[in-house]
Amino acid sequence: MSESLEPMLDLARRALANAHAPYSRFRVGACIRAASGQLYAGCNVENAAYPVSQCAEATAIGAMVAAGDRKIVEVLVLTAAAEPCSPCGRCRQQLAEFAGPDARVHLCGPEGVRATTSVGELLPLAFGPETLGR
Ligand code: THU
Repeated sequence: MSESLEPMLDLARRALANAHAPYSRFRVGACIRAASGQLYAGCNVENAAYPVSQCAEATAIGAMVAAGDRKIVEVLVLTAAAEPCSPCGRCRQQLAEFAGPDARVHLCGPEGVRATTSVGELLPLAFGPETLGR
């Protein structure tokens, strides 16, 4: 039985409210559940030099790594947009570094989950640590 997603949604909502997205005005909140059970949230952090911007997922991954966790078991991405926001290609690669293919990824709007997929579905045939023999 899966855990309630409410705590993850709540943290992602709060992170989204703090998003720094003055250029795109596309706010994103993300929350990661680590194998330890700890939750880590992040928002997108844009920059006047546009390519320097950071996605919400990357911010959450950074918080997780800084806290000492290394294994992602569940991911939630939240936007207020009409369509669910699917992680960008770079985020998929970053998620695959720390998550197995079965880790669920919930694509959410303000009202809750709109679609659920997995890291393996988002990034099949991933290049990963095992490719390097690690
Ligand atoms: N964005 C994310 O935070 N995560 C994604 O997976 C897709 C895009 C952000 C980056 C940028 O600040 C804004 O959404 C518009 O692309």
